[in-house]
Amino acid sequence: MARLSALIALTAAAVAVSAKPIVVRDSPVTVPIARRFNSTGVRNVLKADQARAQALKARSQASKKHLGAINKVFTDVDVPVTNVAEIYTASVGVGTPPTTYNLIIDTGSSNTWVGASTAYVQTSSSVDTGDEVEVSYGSGFFFGEEYTDTVTIGDLVIKNQGVGAALFSEGFDGVDGILGIGPADLTQGTTSSGDTIPTVLDTAFAAGTIDANLIGISFEPTTEASVTNGELSFGAVDDSKHTGDIAFVPITSTSPASEYVGIDQSITYGSAGTTILSSTAGITDTGTTLVLLASDALAKYQSATGAVADNSTGLLKITQAQFDKLESLFFHIGDNTYEFTPNAQIWPRSLNSAIGGDANSIYLVTADLGSNSGQGLDFIDGYTFLERFYYVYDVANAQVGFATTQFTNATTN
Ligand SMILES: *[C@@H]1O[C@H](CO)[C@@H](O)[C@H](O)[C@H]1NC(C)=O
Ligand SMILES: *[C@@H]1O[C@H](CO)[C@@H](O)[C@H](O)[C@H]1NC(C)=O
Ligand SMILES: *[C@@H]1O[C@H](CO)[C@@H](O)[C@H](O)[C@H]1NC(C)=O
Repeated sequence: MARLSALIALTAAAVAVSAKPIVVRDSPVTVPIARRFNSTGVRNVLKADQARAQALKARSQASKKHLGAINKVFTDVDVPVTNVAEIYTASVGVGTPPTTYNLIIDTGSSNTWVGASTAYVQTSSSVDTGDEVEVSYGSGFFFGEEYTDTVTIGDLVIKNQGVGAALFSEGFDGVDGILGIGPADLTQGTTSSGDTIPTVLDTAFAAGTIDANLIGISFEPTTEASVTNGELSFGAVDDSKHTGDIAFVPITSTSPASEYVGIDQSITYGSAGTTILSSTAGITDTGTTLVLLASDALAKYQSATGAVADNSTGLLKITQAQFDKLESLFFHIGDNTYEFTPNAQIWPRSLNSAIGGDANSIYLVTADLGSNSGQGLDFIDGYTFLERFYYVYDVANAQVGFATTQFTNATTN
C-alpha cells in the first residue's frame, strides 16, 4: 500500500514536471570538483583500492535482480572497511530548498546517495519510493531508504532523481555520500524493487536539460592535500580542458569490465617497448586512487623498474637513481597511445606522509590489483592516471574518450 501511494505520488510529480516548458541549457554545464586528502591517521591507499577492486569483480557474480543475492556476495567478500581518504568530491544540492552535500564523484558505481555525515533533509520535493537501498563498495557500504528528489549540481537542476538516504554507512567519514555516474545497470538489485535507477546524467538528458548523455571529467595532478582543481562537464566536453583531440573507444565487451566504464588496453614500458600488460579488459574509475595492474603484469613492471615492495605503504618504492632512469609507460587504447611519464608514475612526494610513507622516499602509483590477469578485469586506471588525460564517458554511445592536457607531462609530483 505504501509502495502504491509512493508510485502514485511519483507519477503525479512526473506529470507536473513534463507540463512545464523544457529549458535546454547552453552546454557544457560545468561544476568544479575538489580533490581532498584526509591525512588523519595512516591510510593504506592500496588496501582501500584492492578492496574496491575485489568488490567490483564480485558484484558481477551476483544476480543483479535480487538484493539478497547481492548482500550474500558482499558478506562473502571479506574486506576491511577502510575510510575513503583520497577522493574527488563535488558540492551537490538535494531538495527544495537544497541542502548541500559533499559527494564523491564515482564512475565505478551509479547510485547517488547522501546522509553519511550530513543527514538527508526531506523537503517538498522529496518522495519516498518505499524501497530500501543498499550498496557495498569494498571500502565501505551504506543502506537506507530510496527517495526521488530534486538534485542541483551547479546550474543543473535535475528533478525526480533517485537519491538514497543513508540510515547507516561505514567508510565515508568526512563526506556525505556518492554521486554515482557509472552505467545505470549497476543500480539493478540495489533497491528492494530491483529496478534500475537512472543516474543524474540519464535523468538530466531525458528531461532535455543537457544536450547529450555524456560527462567530461578534468582532474589535475596536485601536490596539496586539499585543492579544488577539477571539473565535471555535463552534456558536452569542455574544450578548454584538453590539448589533443579526444579519441573514443567502445566500452569493452569483456565481462565483468563491460559492466563498468571498461575498456581494452595494453601497456608497454620504455623505449624498448617491453610488454607489461598484453591487450586485455579493465576499467577506468574515478573512485580508485592508483593505477592497479594484475599481479603478473605488476611483476613485469617491477622487474623493468627495479622497484621493491614497501611494507608501510603497500606501494612499490624506487631509489632516486632508479627514478632518474625510470622510463614512460605507454597505455595503448584503441589506435592511440597515451604516455604516462616517469613523473606521472610516482606519488606526489609532498603527500608521502599522508599515505604513511617516508618524506624522502619515492613511491609508485602503479600497484597490485591483487589478482592475476585473465579474469576480465585486469587493470583499473584510477584517478592518478585520469589526472594526466581528459576523460569523457559518453553514456549514449557506450564509449570512452581520452585526450592529452596541459598536465599530461607535468613534473609536479
Ligand atoms: C578524516 O578522517 C577522520 C577519521 O576517519 C574523520 O574523523 C574526519 O572527520 C575526517 N576529516 C575530514 C576533514 O574529512
Ligand atoms: C614486510 O612484511 C613482511 C610480512 O609482514 C615481513 O615478513 C617482512 O620482514 C617485512 N619487511 C620489512 C623490510 O620490514
Ligand atoms: C609530452 O612529452 C613527450 C616527450 O617529450 C612529447 O612527445 C609529447 O608531445 C608531450 N605531450 C604533451 C601533451 O605535451
